[in-house]
Amino acid sequence: MKKKNQNRPNLQAVGTDAGPVHSVPIMNETENPKLRLENITYIYGKNTPFEVRALDGVSLDIHAGKLTGIIGHTGSGKSTLIQLFNGLTRAESGRVLLDGGDIWANPKEIGKIRYRVGLVMQYPEYQLFEETVAADIAFGPKNMKLSEEEIRERVKESASFAGVDETLMDKSPFDLSGGQKRRVAIAGIMAMRPEVLVLDEPAAGLDPQGRHTIFQGIREYNRRTGCTVIIVSHSMEDMAQYCDDVVVMAHAKVLMAGDRDHIFSRADELEKVGLDIPQITKLMLLLREGGMPVPAGLYTPDAAEASLMEIFDAAKRNKEGRKRV
Ligand SMILES: Nc1ncnc2c1ncn2[C@@H]1O[C@H](COP(=O)(O)OP(=O)(O)O)[C@@H](O)[C@H]1O
Ligand SMILES: [Mg+2]
Repeated sequence: MKKKNQNRPNLQAVGTDAGPVHSVPIMNETENPKLRLENITYIYGKNTPFEVRALDGVSLDIHAGKLTGIIGHTGSGKSTLIQLFNGLTRAESGRVLLDGGDIWANPKEIGKIRYRVGLVMQYPEYQLFEETVAADIAFGPKNMKLSEEEIRERVKESASFAGVDETLMDKSPFDLSGGQKRRVAIAGIMAMRPEVLVLDEPAAGLDPQGRHTIFQGIREYNRRTGCTVIIVSHSMEDMAQYCDDVVVMAHAKVLMAGDRDHIFSRADELEKVGLDIPQITKLMLLLREGGMPVPAGLYTPDAAEASLMEIFDAAKRNKEGRKRV
């Protein structure tokens, strides 16, 4: 099949055969997105003095099987955006498509969408309520009326992905540490095996080791199951490390969206809007400004080291060459 031009500036599909009609460009457009948002506007407190336009004409594709990071300042609309993905809330205008189908085509069936798109809200540990860790993780699969055996298998598998130690299974969730509780809550959603797993700030408030364990587990889950995963975060550093694709939100709009290399090649723009680009990217930008020929968009220390070594080697060869003449 012919690959679509991903940089097409505008998409003005007309007629029914051409697929869905949308009058605004879809950021990051692809052939068969897992999720597509078309021109979404979301307003809190409409027609009141407290009216807030939290999303303003947002169009976006989320690619199947990828780990996508959604980043942006507090208040940029990230949480509002992801609550639309599983129909927890409904937008003022625009459409949410899952595998090409409008999730609100039949509002009575919206419950089914919630199994297909699993949402882990911020600070999910406050929503634990069962007597044991195992029962809490099993809660979703039980509601799905699965067999005991299937439930046991799912609990075990998702506990392992989320980093919940087997020795904790019979404990009360209330006896666990904050980080452990968080992992139990994440395992509970993973156990429903949603096609899309969405997590709102899954590492918020955890120490570096706790952050790493959570992200590592989510990455592993994405790689091994092939499920689409979306993580909301305000840390560029973390997103640079773990994501395939990145969506940058600013002031209720998508500022940019694309694969990680593309986003970090625009690091100077990110810095201009005040986003905390990774330290190593910052250093590379400074070196470029100072006239050093380092490539744009380096975001891991390893890549930066390799690039600097190349420059040093070339300079050394150059110097030796000159000495010989
Ligand atoms: N329940 C709410 N009622 C009114 N305004 C809200 C509500 N939730 C969020 N907002 C406002 O909507 C905007 C986007 O918020 P949010 O989606 O929570 O952003 P983020 O997750 O990026 O911090 C902000 O201006 C916020 O104050
Ligand atoms: Mg939020």
